Amino acid sequence: MKLNAAAEMIPITDPGFADIHPFAPVDQTTGYRQLIDSLEQRLLDLTGFDAISMQPNAGSQGELTGLLVIRAYHTAHHHAHRDVCLIPGSAHGTNPASATMAGLRVVVVNCDDQGNIDVEDLRHKAEIHRDKLAAMMVTYPSTHGVFEQSITSICHIIHEHGGQVYLDGANFNAMIGLCRPAAVGADVMHLNLHKTFAIPHGGGGPGMGPIATRHHLAPFLPNHPVVPNVGGEHPIGAVAAAPFGSPMILPISWMYIHMMGDAGLCRATQLAILNANYIAHRLDPHFPVLYRGRNGPVAHECIIDLRPITKATNITVDDVAKRLIDFGFHAPTMSWPVAGTMMIEPTESESKAELDRFADAMIAIRAEINAIESGRSDPADNPLINAPHTAEELTADNWTHPYSRQTAAYPNPAVRANKYWPPVSRVDHAHGDRNLICTCPPIDAHQTQSNV
Ligand SMILES: Cc1ncc(COP(=O)(O)O)c(C=O)c1O
Repeated sequence: MKLNAAAEMIPITDPGFADIHPFAPVDQTTGYRQLIDSLEQRLLDLTGFDAISMQPNAGSQGELTGLLVIRAYHTAHHHAHRDVCLIPGSAHGTNPASATMAGLRVVVVNCDDQGNIDVEDLRHKAEIHRDKLAAMMVTYPSTHGVFEQSITSICHIIHEHGGQVYLDGANFNAMIGLCRPAAVGADVMHLNLHKTFAIPHGGGGPGMGPIATRHHLAPFLPNHPVVPNVGGEHPIGAVAAAPFGSPMILPISWMYIHMMGDAGLCRATQLAILNANYIAHRLDPHFPVLYRGRNGPVAHECIIDLRPITKATNITVDDVAKRLIDFGFHAPTMSWPVAGTMMIEPTESESKAELDRFADAMIAIRAEINAIESGRSDPADNPLINAPHTAEELTADNWTHPYSRQTAAYPNPAVRANKYWPPVSRVDHAHGDRNLICTCPPIDAHQTQSNV
């Protein structure tokens, strides 16, 4: 997870940013507009695109907006019938969801064994749908953690068949300062400012998913019914309630970009890639890395494969994630984009010491799995399947497990220096998400004294 530095966060507490109504008269928001303009310009410089809309509030909303812009472009060129959107099997789930919401028909493109888009399958499907092809959505670098080596040919094939290329830029952290998405041939992309540009991410908090486009799509960018001078000349309408999405959080990205400077942003990208490769290198002998680029390295993240372990020992990715809590870690992304795996994106923000602490914990967990595999540990009662261990359980008079309390609570020496005490043990996994459970009090609890 990227660091959200205090210096980036403090400006949003300033009433000048925090207390402005989104529809405040334009002459009262000139400072805000200056900040938005300057951030827009920096994002255009970094992406290589020509125009930008700050309206979408999330990456997914940026996808919908970008696809609506593409549809408007086709309509303006008398190609409103183009309604097929090619999406590779490696895509984030929001891609097909956004395409469907934009009224497009999703056609899935296969990936090869290395996680890359299968270019022959792409060419074949582009050919089949050539009269109806509206767009392709491609994530670069991909959610498989690889730089698609064929990205420029992919864009070329789509253009040849009359489509537009939507680049999902959620992984832009692996590109800034090294290359520009417009240069690979994309027509429009979204940026996750809440991922790449230091806005705190997760927990459903406000995000920003601006879209950047080439000249030919700029006329269709969203406008706003209340606030003038927003969007293109033939806008698709508004996609969010406010003209610039959630502008209150833009000072965070502005501060991040300006404090880092060009050299700092480039260095962050290099470190993010280096860190992901360091983790891949340390973990691979213990948990094989699923996908790699042609020459061996991964991009900004790596997927480690736990499926052979699960097959051999019944220890699942959930068990490893829960055991990581005993080591003081929140688990990385689980079972996505490949079920039964873990995806690790350290970003540039983690120090080598922290990466080593994490790798050491994972390697120690692998040793615990080995013990189950070799019969030294009970497959039905071991530190993994009982994790996480709470203070209440560890300090209870009754301890019945075949391993020690010490093994449970302090699985390696690093944990002693900074022990995190999990407040709860496992409850019921995703059971509550998948089953409607009524938590209302029983009906007789509502019975009042008067009608007893
Ligand atoms: C590759 C990719 N695309 C799209 C999204 C959607 O972004 P958001 O969660 O802001 O809607 C994400 C989110 O993490 C992502 O990783």
